[in-house]
Amino acid sequence: MSEKKRLCYIHTMGCQMNVHDSEQMAVLLKRHGGYDQTDDVEQADLVIVNTCSVREKAEQKAHSFIGRMRKLKRENPDMIVGVAGCLAQQWGELFIKRSPHLDFVCGTHNFHRIAEIVDRTQRTSRPVIETDFHKSVRSIGVYAPPQPGTVHAFVTIMQGCNNFCSYCIVPYLRGREESRDWRDIVNEVTTLADDGVKEVTLLGQNVNSYGQTLDDDVNFSRLIGYIHDIKGIERIRFTTSHPKDLSDGLIDCFHGLPKLCEHIHLPVQAGSNRILKRMNRGYTVEEYMRKVEKLHERCHGISVTSDIIVGFPGETEEDFQKTIDLMEKVRFDNTFSFQYSDRPGIASVGYAEKVPMEVKKRRLVVLQSRQKEITLEKNQAAEGAVVDVLVDGVSKNSARDVTGRTRTNRIVNFEGDISLIGQVIDVKITTAYMHSLRGVAVPGGRFHNVG
Ligand code: 5AD
Ligand code: SF4
Repeated sequence: MSEKKRLCYIHTMGCQMNVHDSEQMAVLLKRHGGYDQTDDVEQADLVIVNTCSVREKAEQKAHSFIGRMRKLKRENPDMIVGVAGCLAQQWGELFIKRSPHLDFVCGTHNFHRIAEIVDRTQRTSRPVIETDFHKSVRSIGVYAPPQPGTVHAFVTIMQGCNNFCSYCIVPYLRGREESRDWRDIVNEVTTLADDGVKEVTLLGQNVNSYGQTLDDDVNFSRLIGYIHDIKGIERIRFTTSHPKDLSDGLIDCFHGLPKLCEHIHLPVQAGSNRILKRMNRGYTVEEYMRKVEKLHERCHGISVTSDIIVGFPGETEEDFQKTIDLMEKVRFDNTFSFQYSDRPGIASVGYAEKVPMEVKKRRLVVLQSRQKEITLEKNQAAEGAVVDVLVDGVSKNSARDVTGRTRTNRIVNFEGDISLIGQVIDVKITTAYMHSLRGVAVPGGRFHNVG
């Protein structure tokens, strides 16, 4: 008699770090619990909500999804429902008090124990709560084998953060910064390459300080160099870079290492020195600008993207205008922008002069509409150019098209078939949109040469 298949639904919210944590949990649950993934939450035997806590909106969304689970659990009392990630770390036991239908709470240092947590949940009638911090990076070292045909993978190189920007809850929920051994990272990327992956994104809250917690004489530039030597890997990306720690050595990597793609996500957060100081960011607008200039000097055509917060406590119209001025000067290829929100325990909760909601909203609209124009203008500047596109799948909009990314991280769609997946193709850009580009494979280019 065959055993019934067990199905797991993981609902992931938040950043790339969370996405990768979910991938790793999925592997462990398959390996140690026999769970297959499902896209249909109603069919699941196990539901995990992997949460984000960085902004209030993310928290509200998580609570509303968890609320929806109450009804499902009532209809199917055998279903296990648990919460993981940053919000789980923040709330701990209180989560169960607020939502008694939850079976477990798995904090940010306990992902590696997820299968055991689920197993314990099944054997006891009491909720399981695991939110201790561990002084090791075990929780980030699980190898997630890519699905067949996967071209890109994330690789976590460090966890936690030591920066304590005054608006940020991450250091409290992910703990102090800790780097993974470079040998483990190199092994993981080598295995990914053997499994067909062509492009990796190295992940950490502040990758520029990689290596500081290790005894080895290794830093981030050197790590990129090691990964650059791995056969089969064609492109390397990383995120996130803290501007204060962006070294000349790393800027030089963009010049000297051809596999390192011409894109950097360099969150500036604000364009006023007074606000940057209150945010505890550790750099001035002038220092930031100098680094951006160096990036352009050393790496022609590099794309620079950023995060920006509007309405930080004390931000005046004049401060906000300085952020817009900075945006105009840098001409970011894209920005992720947010209204400031108070988070429990962060330093800026106590800062006076809170900016009213309507003002924050208005500033965000102004900033985002200007950014849209700049992004479109920059995309339009690519019209007529021939770019390298690493094809990663079939286009969502048309089965006759494939989709991929330029080295500057722009999405490009063009006519082609699935045999192109995993290949770098020369594509001439014909039309620019806000979120993507359209093009045609160049006759005589790499598409037509492949046998
Ligand atoms: N309010 C608004 N945005 C925030 N971010 C982090 N904390 C807050 C907060 N309290 C933004 C920053 C960061 C991005 C991941 O989220 O811009 O770079
Ligand atoms: Fe948060 Fe600042 Fe650390 Fe980024 S660098 S995770 S914004 S504390």
